[in-house]
Amino acid sequence: MHTFKLFLFVAALAVFDSIPPVGSSHTEREGKRATAPSWQQYVRAPTQRIVHPVAIIANRTTGDIENAENLINPGGGIATFSRNATTDAVPSITLDFGIMVAFSETLEFLTNRSDFTRSDNGDTITSGTDQFAVPTSPVTWTDTYGCLQGSQVCADGLHGFRYMSISLNALESDAPFTSATGVVNISSVSLNYTAFLGTPDTFTGWFESSDTQLNQFWFDAVYTNDMVIDFFEQNTTDPRNAFSETLNNDQVIFDGAKRDRDPYVGDIAVSGRTLYLSHNVSIAARNILADLAEHQRDDGWIPPASINDYTLPLFDYPLWWVVSSYDLYLYTNDVEYINTYYPVLVNVLDGYYVSNTDATTGLLTKPEGYGDYAFLPRTGIVAYYNALYVFALQQAAAIANFTGQTDDASRWTLRASTVANAINANLWDDSVGAYYDFLPATSTTPHAQDGNGLAILSQAANVTRASSALTYYGTAAAQAYGHAFYDSDEQGAGFSTRVYAFISYFELRARFLTPGFAISGLTQLRDMYGWMSSHDPFLTFWEGIGAGGTLYEEGFTSAAHGWSTGVVSILSNYVLGVEPTAPGFSNFTVRPVPGDVTWAMGQVPTPQGPIFVSWAINATGALSVNVTVPVGTSGQVSVPVGNSSTVRLDQNVVWSTGSSGKDANGYVSIEVSGGEHTVEVV
Ligand SMILES: *[C@@H]1O[C@H](CO)[C@@H](O)[C@H](O)[C@H]1NC(C)=O
Ligand SMILES: *[C@@H]1O[C@H](CO)[C@@H](O)[C@H](O)[C@H]1NC(C)=O
Ligand SMILES: *[C@@H]1O[C@H](CO)[C@@H](O)[C@H](O)[C@H]1NC(C)=O
Ligand SMILES: *[C@@H]1O[C@H](CO)[C@@H](O)[C@H](O)[C@H]1NC(C)=O
Ligand SMILES: *[C@@H]1O[C@H](CO)[C@@H](O)[C@H](O)[C@H]1NC(C)=O
Ligand SMILES: *[C@@H]1O[C@H](CO)[C@@H](O)[C@H](O)[C@H]1NC(C)=O
Ligand SMILES: *[C@@H]1O[C@H](CO)[C@@H](O)[C@H](O)[C@H]1NC(C)=O
Ligand SMILES: *[C@@H]1O[C@H](CO)[C@@H](O)[C@H](O)[C@H]1NC(C)=O
Ligand SMILES: *[C@@H]1O[C@H](CO)[C@@H](O)[C@H](O)[C@H]1NC(C)=O
Ligand SMILES: *[C@@H]1O[C@H](CO)[C@@H](O)[C@H](O)[C@H]1NC(C)=O
Ligand SMILES: *[C@@H]1O[C@H](CO)[C@@H](O)[C@H](O)[C@H]1NC(C)=O
Ligand SMILES: *[C@@H]1O[C@H](CO)[C@@H](O)[C@H](O)[C@H]1NC(C)=O
Repeated sequence: MHTFKLFLFVAALAVFDSIPPVGSSHTEREGKRATAPSWQQYVRAPTQRIVHPVAIIANRTTGDIENAENLINPGGGIATFSRNATTDAVPSITLDFGIMVAFSETLEFLTNRSDFTRSDNGDTITSGTDQFAVPTSPVTWTDTYGCLQGSQVCADGLHGFRYMSISLNALESDAPFTSATGVVNISSVSLNYTAFLGTPDTFTGWFESSDTQLNQFWFDAVYTNDMVIDFFEQNTTDPRNAFSETLNNDQVIFDGAKRDRDPYVGDIAVSGRTLYLSHNVSIAARNILADLAEHQRDDGWIPPASINDYTLPLFDYPLWWVVSSYDLYLYTNDVEYINTYYPVLVNVLDGYYVSNTDATTGLLTKPEGYGDYAFLPRTGIVAYYNALYVFALQQAAAIANFTGQTDDASRWTLRASTVANAINANLWDDSVGAYYDFLPATSTTPHAQDGNGLAILSQAANVTRASSALTYYGTAAAQAYGHAFYDSDEQGAGFSTRVYAFISYFELRARFLTPGFAISGLTQLRDMYGWMSSHDPFLTFWEGIGAGGTLYEEGFTSAAHGWSTGVVSILSNYVLGVEPTAPGFSNFTVRPVPGDVTWAMGQVPTPQGPIFVSWAINATGALSVNVTVPVGTSGQVSVPVGNSSTVRLDQNVVWSTGSSGKDANGYVSIEVSGGEHTVEVV
């Protein structure tokens, strides 16, 4: 007889019993206006690092197991697994930790092996199960990477998961160290949640609104991001030559809680903002951006990640480094980072991308052998790389202005406009009213979400083209679970039914920036995040959604991926409306885009203290915005005005119809400085 206590050392987990029912109709979603912050109700993180399973998946128990229920009743006693002969059924049980936490993220791909393990990524020490030889005396087993006997009795260690199966069995290859029969008593099963533990006291930013479903998405996305924030260590990173001495023991944002445990810079363009808007651990983004900058190639190219010893050839990720550096600087005022890596910025834009520019059109041309965020084969002139280039050049020009490098700012601004003009001259498809994916274009050339979304976000598209492309794309690529990343399968099977929350984020931003498209943005958001939160593991946001709403790469797909958390930025930056316009929010805007939301309240952290905003639209349609501005900063509160509106700041009329200052989107901006203010449109 053997007794042991299982202790699982895992990177992350998820909570199920606490998931509130989310209304499906608009009325059910409608929350009474909060007069005091009540966001704590939406927080998902476990209250402490040691987490116990909460349920047994009924129809997955096999063999002889007595008192199994003790495993979900801490301190309740012993569960006994018995197997007299190998001809008897394997005693096996599947435990549910209630929330995403490492053996298997979903039940669908959990068989007698895990859905995906580190060993499936090339470092094969065990084939899909973690082995332990239970000794005769009581023991606590901590499941970490390594083998008990030479290259036998091995375990990968566990990463992001929700479900775990425990079986009494043995691999033939582990003989003579393990036995497939016997009796094992288990007194307790628990795991250690090692990722960022986002309990309510750790939130520096938050969001709530009249739509309780949107509120839960915001907190589920933060939880998804928290699960991928952990320390980079040799035995838990992606085994594909991703270990790096320069990242060793650094806190980072990983690419998925389950597999691919290597930080990628494209992901930071989304997960970095999620981080800055929710928790005070910007170091997790900075560590990655600085490390990749340190590995810049002589020709200016910046690696996307440490994988393959910093050589994975992606064409778009050096531009995401620029965009992510801009965000780091604006959200955290990290002057030291910007000054240290400014030469890297110059070399990537003026070296690498200039050397990959087509002389005739002035457009970027992707060389053979390079991929992108979706490893697409397209080469030559592609809308996405060029639209992203325009966006990155604009952000680089802003960085240059803030740091006094005005020559660089002018050069990059001019180049952004040249590329934008070339995109419009060469890549627009008048027949559908959207940008082509690539050149040369034929009648079957597809239109992609990445190129169209970024052309609008970068304002390469004017408002006519933006409206046209958003209208086309919202129809041509609509699925029940969001917008697909292609409008046809011309470039690959299944492309027109695959949804990436990552690249959808840029289309969503485009919808909130283009007059008249906010409600379509909220629909896209609700379809995509609503689908993921109503499918196993019922909480965290997936790397990609495939045909019919499945996990797009089956069990390989990570079901908790930081790059899919753009809803946090959409709600904080656009619905609540707070965005920095100068480093460290020394200048910022509060520009609510309500869509069908009737009130929103939230906080955005800045180095000078939080910006608090609460806005509401009353029954007669009047908008009122309360804002608390940190001392030492100033910003503009921008409000939409109608045909006969008056705008008041702290009771005083500051604008009325007929005055100048109404922008192209119909907003009027009012300057506010440190302290509490109310701006009303009546
Ligand atoms: C295992 O548990 C059973 C009760 O379920 C008990 O009778 C037996 O002594 C235990 N064995 C050990 C080694 O603790
Ligand atoms: C187990 O039960 C669930 C519902 O509780 C069902 O969806 C699933 O198909 C069942 N699986 C098996 C193998 O019977
Ligand atoms: C295993 O052997 C024990 C003792 O002989 C017996 O009580 C038990 O029923 C057997 N279990 C199975 C599954 O045959
Ligand atoms: C899992 O089951 C398959 C047959 O369904 C078997 O071939 C394989 O050896 C089993 N693996 C383990 C680890 O038990
Ligand atoms: C990594 O795993 C190996 C094999 O188990 C072990 O010898 C080594 O100490 C581990 N390294 C660290 C840093 O934990
Ligand atoms: C759980 O993990 C944390 C973070 O890695 C560590 O500090 C702590 O010691 C671990 N707790 C146990 C009981 O192993
Ligand atoms: C964030 O953390 C830094 C230290 O890492 C600290 O100086 C700062 O006050 C913190 N900010 C907030 C808002 O908690
Ligand atoms: C940079 O500063 C100049 C001069 O103030 C201004 O005209 C230009 O718009 C700025 N560019 C950016 C990208 O901020
Ligand atoms: C937008 O750009 C297109 C193509 O350059 C042009 O035909 C159209 O007039 C522009 N619309 C606006 C409002 O500037
Ligand atoms: C903040 O930015 C706005 C708009 O870009 C500008 O009008 C204002 O002067 C700026 N305020 C400060 C203090 O720089
Ligand atoms: C703004 O603050 C005032 C005074 O506290 C309060 O009565 C009002 O409800 C607030 N408005 C919003 C939209 O939060
Ligand atoms: C809405 O707010 C405006 C401006 O404060 C006010 O004049 C109007 O009476 C309010 N309507 C309702 C129904 O409260």
